[in-house]
Amino acid sequence: MRKYLILTVILVSGAAAGAWLMTQAGTQTSAAPEDFDLAQGEDLYQGYCASCHGANLEGQPDWHSPGPAGVLPAPPHDETGHTWHHSDSVLFDYTKLGGKAALAAQGVDFESGMPGFGDQLTDDQIWNILAYIKSTWPDRQRQIQAERSAAEAQREGN
Ligand code: HEC
Repeated sequence: MRKYLILTVILVSGAAAGAWLMTQAGTQTSAAPEDFDLAQGEDLYQGYCASCHGANLEGQPDWHSPGPAGVLPAPPHDETGHTWHHSDSVLFDYTKLGGKAALAAQGVDFESGMPGFGDQLTDDQIWNILAYIKSTWPDRQRQIQAERSAAEAQREGN
């Protein structure tokens, strides 16, 4: 629980998140392609992500509470989760590097159950999966997430 709180504080609190995100400038994140292949994204999602995050992006049961090993279950990627609270580059790094490495790069020690897919998926494939996930959100969540990503990209001078 304590680890979850720490993560939440880091990911959610505005000022801290801002500082944290700025240190990410241009490290791992490749530029998102202009066009996304949503059909490929959905296919890859079902093949690589659905086993943990759910075929309908519903996440694992009791995803708010750490399991017996103290590791959090996979959260939903639909609008009931917090995926849409994060900018594109955060989602990309988390998927490419995995939770532990993505947070370690920010100096945060966190035992994450989220594996990295950098050696199984190309950058474009990861962007297509994220585009598919986003395509399932209601307008409000899509808009908030897009604004956050744009604000961050501007801060980083992209
Ligand atoms: C082996 C199970 C597993 C698989 C497979 C998996 N994930 Fe995860 N994922 C997790 C867990 C557990 C978490 C939550 C722990 C954490 O945040 O570190 C997580 C968290 C995330 C997050 C952060 C979400 C947030 O709101 O903070 C993203 C983004 C993510 N996963 C994307 C993906 C994508 C995309 C795929 C498929 C390419 C995928 N995951 C496959 C277990 C998995």
